[in-house]
This record gives sequence, structure tokens and C-alpha cells, in this order.
Amino acid sequence: MDKIRIRGGQSLSGTIPIAGAKNAALPLMAACLLSDEELALSNIPHVADIASLAALLAQHGVRVSLNGDDPNQGCQGRVMGLRAETITNTEAPYELVRKMRASILVLGPLLARVGKARVSLPGGCAIGTRPVDLHLKALEQLGATIEIDEGYINAFAPEDGLKGAHITFPFVSVGATENLLMAACLAQGETVLSNVAREPEITDLAECLIAMGAQISGLGTDRLTIQGCEKLHGAHHKVLPDRIETGTYMIAAAITDGHIELTNTRYDLVEALCDKLIEAGVPVSETETGVLVERHHGKLTGIDVMTEPYPGFPTDLQAQFMTLMTKAQGAAMITESIFENRFMHVPELARMGARINVHGSSAMVRGTKTLKGAPVMATDLRASVSLILAGLASSGETIVNRVYHLDRGYERLEEKLAACGAEIERLKE
Ligand code: EPZ
Repeated sequence: MDKIRIRGGQSLSGTIPIAGAKNAALPLMAACLLSDEELALSNIPHVADIASLAALLAQHGVRVSLNGDDPNQGCQGRVMGLRAETITNTEAPYELVRKMRASILVLGPLLARVGKARVSLPGGCAIGTRPVDLHLKALEQLGATIEIDEGYINAFAPEDGLKGAHITFPFVSVGATENLLMAACLAQGETVLSNVAREPEITDLAECLIAMGAQISGLGTDRLTIQGCEKLHGAHHKVLPDRIETGTYMIAAAITDGHIELTNTRYDLVEALCDKLIEAGVPVSETETGVLVERHHGKLTGIDVMTEPYPGFPTDLQAQFMTLMTKAQGAAMITESIFENRFMHVPELARMGARINVHGSSAMVRGTKTLKGAPVMATDLRASVSLILAGLASSGETIVNRVYHLDRGYERLEEKLAACGAEIERLKE
């Protein structure tokens, strides 16, 4: 298993181009199942989760092509073609789904397109049990019959297809919103989804579905109305920038007293983080093509943060922000309200000298002047990158083990940081 070695202490400065959002690209890829024509997606990030879903779609009969890779532009020019002309297999097997939970996003499209699906339950992961009960209950409201058998979801649509319905989610779920939005596009009649997630990735998916011929209104609000139609046609869609990658590198600039411009992204996608960084004393500004963070030895003040559904502070930036707070003056209370076990980075940060006490869903961070490099263990995608950030801001050497977690969601991470002056390298095992 690869490791990453960091020698900390440099102030980072330079420019980092942001890739397309992994958490937008995954549902967008699943949307290809809704049509027999080609869906072309550009700005697809080069990360492991994308390859995992491409493999799953291929075994459903989707023809996946990648072209336009331009070595000079990174993957900027890359276009992924996905064509589900015929769906030859409606089963999503455990060995593929367990590797990538977002595989559950094929359930709604398969049910809507061919009327049946046998999808492995994703199982839990490091950050929580992550059930899919909201997905299943809502699909039943569209008329589906769903049974759980030997760890698989067996789902069937009525003979004459799914029927539109008024569905109110008991609480906000990004994945359930995406599954139901896709299924409703081919259901008969009108579907109203209330209390939906408002993440930008949902809006991006809706815009792509509209380009494919779907009739959707209420984008960006907590209620989406979909008029079902017979079929969807092909389209070309550009994946929106990755707001979590953007926020991660913004924090890299802040924690190393650096100066980094993030390009190919948008300030509005990271507004909640910008507000918190400015409150903590870190200068952040909007630029033509993204965001600029330039901290010059200014005071870094400990502040409280609670994760919430969008437009609140994103749970996917909680670990990274906590790492920043370990270097702040004073105390910071970090509260995780979305997942039940998303503090796996805390014991690893403690090995580097961070002072953090966890009480239930809250962690009290007491800032310290110095962190010391140490060998640490990555446990999940965002916890892993928080350890990289800690290593950048530590004296001495940090070795992050099990970096396959990182490779699921960060494209060319060490290259992007090294280009800004970080002493970071991958140790191939
Ligand atoms: C998406 O996961 C993201 N993944 C996550 O990013 C992100 O943290 C999460 O949304 C919240 O923003 C992708 O988009 C691929 P949820 P998802 O359904 O859809 C509970 C990353 O690091 N819940 O909004 O699975 C659930 O357990 C990943 O990139 C149910 O109880 O998240 C959680 O506590 C991590 N029943 C809460 O709701 C359900 O049926 C929010 O989950 C569904 C969810």
C-alpha cells in the first residue's frame, strides 16, 4: 500500500487548478442509464471512485469511453462518453458496491429504465452505518416493490412503470434526493420531492437531466417538481468544480501561512467555509476564476463550527477545518451533525501533538503552537487529507499510511501541493 511522506514547515504559495467534483460526477454517470443515447461528460476528475463506477456501469452493458486526455492540460480536456443503448444486466454485485457506496445511485435509474434492479446493500463505512432506508421508502412511493434478500435490494417497478407521487423526505439526504430525482424523470405523471438536499451537486445533476430532456423545476430549493416523460435523449454536460477539493486547498494555504489561488472553481461553492476562515482571521477573496487565500502571519483565532446540509458548513470539510483549528489561538468547538462517526482523524492528529477532546458529536480543540510530524493512519477520504494538512504544518516528517483512501477523491494531490512548494512525495509500496 502506498504511503505519502511530508516534511512540514514550508509556507505554500502558487496556483492550484481544481478538478471536477467527484460527488457530482458519480450521479451524473449513473444518469446515463436513463437514456439509450450517449451522455458525454467533461471535466471528469481522475480519481479512483470514478473508475469504480465506470466498471460497475460497464457490467450493466454501458459502453464507456474516455478521450481528449491532454497531457498538458491534465484532465481538463478529458471527455467521458457513456452509452446505455441496451442494459444487459440489472444486478450491481456486492464485490463492486462494497468498494464504492455511491453505486447505490444505479438503483433509481435501473428501476425507471428497465423496471427492475438487484443492487447489493452498500454496507457501512468508517464514518457511519449509512443506511439507505430513505432511498427505498421513497422508491416504494413511486410504486416500486422492494425486498431485501441475502444482502441485496430486489426492486421491481409495476408492469406499466413507476408512477409520480408527492414525497417528503423526513430529513435531508443527498443520495436519496439524487436517486429519486433520476427515477422520477421516467415515472408517469408529476413527482414532487420535498425536503430535498440543496447541494450544488444536486443542481448540477438536475441541469444535466434537463439537457437530456427532463422537465424539472425548483432547482436550488428544497422542493423539486418533475414531470415524467417517455424517454431521455443524449447530452453533453460539464461537471461542476469540486467544492471540497477547493476548500481543502484553501485550508492548506491557511494552515501553512501561505498564499494560494484556486482556479477553475467558484467562490459561491465554498461560501460557508470562506465566512468561517474570515471569522478566524484568514483573508479570503473572490477572483475571476475562483478563490484566493493569502495569510501573512496574521493571527489565527479558534472559532466554533457545526456541520450542516448545504448551504451550511459541509461535513466533508470538517476534518480539514479541525486540523486548522489545532494551530489556532484559543479553543474551537467542532460539532458533526451529519455522520455519527466522523472523528476518526482525532486520535491520529493527537499523535502529532494536537489537543482535542471528543464529547459525543462535538470535539473541543485547544490550539497549540506546534505540531510534530509522526507516522499516522488514514481511515477515510477526508480524514486522510486532514492528516496531509497537519503534516504540512508540522515540524519534522509525517508518513501517512493507506493513502488509497486519498486516491478515491483527490486528483494528483501530491503534484498540486509540491507545485506550491510542499516537500511531499508518494512512497510506492
Ligand atoms: C453524500 O453522501 C456524499 N457522497 C458524502 O461525501 C457527503 O458527506 C454526504 O453526501 C453529505 O453531504 C457522495 O455524494 C458520493 P446523505 P450520502 O444521504 O448521499 C443518513 C465524501 O467524503 N441517511 O446526505 O451517502 C446518513 O447515514 C463523501 O466525498 C440515512 O439515515 O449522504 C447520514 O448520516 C462522504 N438513510 C445522513 O443521512 C438514508 O437512506 C446524510 O447522508 C440516507 C442517508
